Amino acid sequence: MKLAVVEGDGIGKEVIPAAIEVLDSLGLDVEKIPVELGYGKWERTGSAITDEDIDTLKECDCVFFGAVTTPPDPNYKSVLLTIRKELDMYANIRPIRPLPSVKGIHERNDFNFIIVRENTEGLYSGIEEIGTDISTTKRVVTRKGSKRIADYACKLAKSRMNKLTIVHKSNVMKSDKLFLDVSRQSAIDTGVLHRDELVDSFAYNLITSPWNYDVIVTTNLFGDILSDMSGALVGGLGLLPSANIGEKYAFFEPVHGSAPDIAGNNRANPVAAILSLKMLLEWHGDLAEAAIVEEAIDVALNMGICTPDLGGKHTTSEVGNTIAKYIRTK
Ligand code: NAI
Ligand code: MG
Repeated sequence: MKLAVVEGDGIGKEVIPAAIEVLDSLGLDVEKIPVELGYGKWERTGSAITDEDIDTLKECDCVFFGAVTTPPDPNYKSVLLTIRKELDMYANIRPIRPLPSVKGIHERNDFNFIIVRENTEGLYSGIEEIGTDISTTKRVVTRKGSKRIADYACKLAKSRMNKLTIVHKSNVMKSDKLFLDVSRQSAIDTGVLHRDELVDSFAYNLITSPWNYDVIVTTNLFGDILSDMSGALVGGLGLLPSANIGEKYAFFEPVHGSAPDIAGNNRANPVAAILSLKMLLEWHGDLAEAAIVEEAIDVALNMGICTPDLGGKHTTSEVGNTIAKYIRTK
């Protein structure tokens, strides 16, 4: 496999090397292509991502990505939005499943749901007019964009509990009526049991009763917010992996950002990145390797080898190292 490896900024430079140590311990035939992207590159060269970078990403089988810093500077074009659009990765898959050894906000840990977030349009369309007294961002919902994400979510639901929740705000934003109608039709056509909820009350229901959900499909901004919120259910942002999938390309990254507040101290939790690696392995068909990675994470956490966000005293590299060492003994 030819793998583009993007560390990015901040803790991306810490969690990706830890995850790469885990990848190396598996002994797979992987050609790693390092690609520098992000705010650091922008400061150094005036460009956060170039056309050549995009070509390099497209030449690889898939991308393993850390995190990038995005400053609120109107001249700075988001690297992630650019990549998701250029590689047309329309589905952002965010599984929320507790690890046996980590407690979230509930005593119960019998939940396991997946947020399927539309990844190319909605409020992240990038179509904006920024002025002094009025600034606008265009919210784009298309039939094609809604149908492909709804079809993806329905297919996923069929492989699980056949239960889909469509999350929207069509009572206020009429653009969501199209998303809702198309998603419902897709569920009917594919025989998936479905219901829909308005995003505000849904947020309350999800955080209080996560065990009621299986596959959730929603638009870009809602999916972004709801997935970070769901981090509280499983013990923190340092534990949430994700995949960005399109027709041609795939891209794996932790849900969290570059965490400038803790960057540079070797204390970021690498588990989200390592679980993203696990999703990458599954996508590539390396199922035995993916299973051993998950087992090794559990072993390390059960031994109390974890970073301060989980109450531990260990560094990012120590956690990665412990997981890699366990895999090497297998
Ligand atoms: P963030 O996810 O970077 O951090 C939020 C909080 O969670 C911070 O207190 C941080 O210390 C903690 N945290 C995050 N990941 C952690 C980990 N692995 N281990 C331990 N603690 C962790 O979000 P924030 O602070 O809102 O954004 C920081 C920067 O990251 C911004 O420039 C933002 O644009 C960017 N960002 C990038 C993303 C990406 O590259 N995919 C996603 C989200 C934000
Ligand atoms: Mg986010």
